[in-house]
Amino acid sequence: MRMLTSGDKDIRIAAEAIKAGRLAAFPTETVYGLGGDAFNVSALARIFEAKRRPRFDPLIVHIADLSTLNMAADVGSLPRSLRAKLDVLCRNLWPGPLTLVLPKQASVPDLATSGLPTVAARFPSHPVAQKLIRYSTGAIAAPSANPFGYLSPTKASHVQEQLGELVDFIIDGGRAGIGVESTVLDLTEEPARMLRPGGAPREAIEAIIGHVETGSPPAPHSAPQAAPHSPGQLASHYAPKTPLFLHDANAMLGLSFCPDEAYLFFDEETRGAWNMRNMPNVFGADGDGRIFTLTHGADKGTADKTLEAAANLFDILHIIDNAKPSAIHAQKSPDIGLGAAINDRLTRAAAKRN
Ligand code: TXA
Ligand code: MG
Repeated sequence: MRMLTSGDKDIRIAAEAIKAGRLAAFPTETVYGLGGDAFNVSALARIFEAKRRPRFDPLIVHIADLSTLNMAADVGSLPRSLRAKLDVLCRNLWPGPLTLVLPKQASVPDLATSGLPTVAARFPSHPVAQKLIRYSTGAIAAPSANPFGYLSPTKASHVQEQLGELVDFIIDGGRAGIGVESTVLDLTEEPARMLRPGGAPREAIEAIIGHVETGSPPAPHSAPQAAPHSPGQLASHYAPKTPLFLHDANAMLGLSFCPDEAYLFFDEETRGAWNMRNMPNVFGADGDGRIFTLTHGADKGTADKTLEAAANLFDILHIIDNAKPSAIHAQKSPDIGLGAAINDRLTRAAAKRN
């Protein structure tokens, strides 16, 4: 593995590697991705292998130019009304943290889409990601650059710790600004369906195309063993190694301090109130490194706080996990803005205990 800078020369080195069928991890505005040529089957196989990812969980194809969307997606086969929604979403939210599930082009290898008739496409806004895509093959398949089921990486060092020699290059582009993965929106049926809450908040999407459904559709009676609609959305996912317990603010306030557990508060208000009640004064205000807060300061609106919280979430969970406490108690986020994505990740992390 070789660490690269985000300078042009280094991006070209990674791009050449991708063209040759090798893997490069790279920054995006959401999390770091593990990229390979979307049309090279052996590169795709290496991605699944490096992540130890089951092959039923399809990859996102990243593009850096609207005109290359046709390489991946058969946009022409969409009904007219959905095509109109696609157009307006692309105009307003691309490039950015939105992944669209669309009918697939026959030329996209089945390995990338796990044999589904659809493909997930994303146009990231991160300039390094865009250059890497343009300098290489125009279409990079990239899951988050973490072992399957574990916390997503928001820094190059996370990728290095988790994948090490399984990746050929890592481009260090600093912290991923948004900090949670893209929103996955299925645009193959009416109404559109949000399969994964993420960096593009539901409110922003609904302001553009109206109501969207959430989660997997109810399975038809005739298909009791229907395949998961969004195959990667397993209950237990995005999880630290430490058991995680999710609480609302009130339940959090009721927890007494246990020195080998870690506490992750959403805001300073709740943490302050908890400290007053529960922190024995033999410990410092941060419980000697066991107490963490996702947002700081009281001067922001709640939606802005969820932006700050999302940007800190995985980084803080990595820090807590590396300290190996016996449990993590996390406070739910308010359910607006990026709060839905934060609560989704924390709920899945908590599901790992069971
Ligand atoms: O922000 C992101 O989306 C990051 C960065 C690197 O772009 N990528 C990412 O990829 O989170 P990954 O592989 O960790 O998550 C992709 C999600 C999975 O839940 C997968 O099941 C879903 O997208 N997905 C991919 N193709 C799909 C399809 N054809 N139909 C439904 N869901 C699909
Ligand atoms: Mg992932």
